Amino acid sequence: MTPQDASKQAREICGLAPIVPVLVVKDAGHARPLAKALVAGGLPALEVTLRTPAALEAISEMAKVPGGVVGAGTLVTAQDVKNAKAAGAKFGVSPGATDALLDACEAEDLPLLAGAATASEAMRLFERGYDVLKFFPAEASGGAPALKAIGGPLPQISFCPTGGVSPKNADSYLSLPNVICAGGSWVAPADMVLAGDWTGIEALARDASTLKV
Ligand code: 3PG
Repeated sequence: MTPQDASKQAREICGLAPIVPVLVVKDAGHARPLAKALVAGGLPALEVTLRTPAALEAISEMAKVPGGVVGAGTLVTAQDVKNAKAAGAKFGVSPGATDALLDACEAEDLPLLAGAATASEAMRLFERGYDVLKFFPAEASGGAPALKAIGGPLPQISFCPTGGVSPKNADSYLSLPNVICAGGSWVAPADMVLAGDWTGIEALARDASTLKV
């Protein structure tokens, strides 16, 4: 897959809803009901972080939920990319980017939302053909004002800010012309997942799905 095709697909996935839930799944048994709740609440694109032993199984389980588009987050190595693809991930998300990671995603046909926090990082990815990136860590990197400033000279690059995005600040990002969606974990709080509060999670998703991009 070329970087241009990857970016096109990433743009489509990011266009499905204003928020991409960032999920840390500890128990694969939670995966399907969690995905169902989020999809029912209007958030079809889901990022499962590869940070737990259950993550790959969770991706496989979530991939069976109708209407969901499940991706793998925290991709760091080429092996992560292979594992994610084999588990059924439809897209990948990474905190940053290395040539090895980009090579692996292109070889495995996995559209990647690669992380960038500075103008130089964004320019390197753009040079390679990627024009849809993750702005990470969003709040710690200066938040919406920083991303707005990057958009001045680089308006052709779109971002999904992630890291510290919340209902309190989501609007400040989503109102920027270079933001197409945002990622956040608040729609699936660990305690609600543990308690199996799928109705509550669906309600959080529904609120997030009404945010204006
Ligand atoms: C992460 O690193 O887990 C993601 O960037 C999500 O960040 P958040 O928990 O601040 O939404």
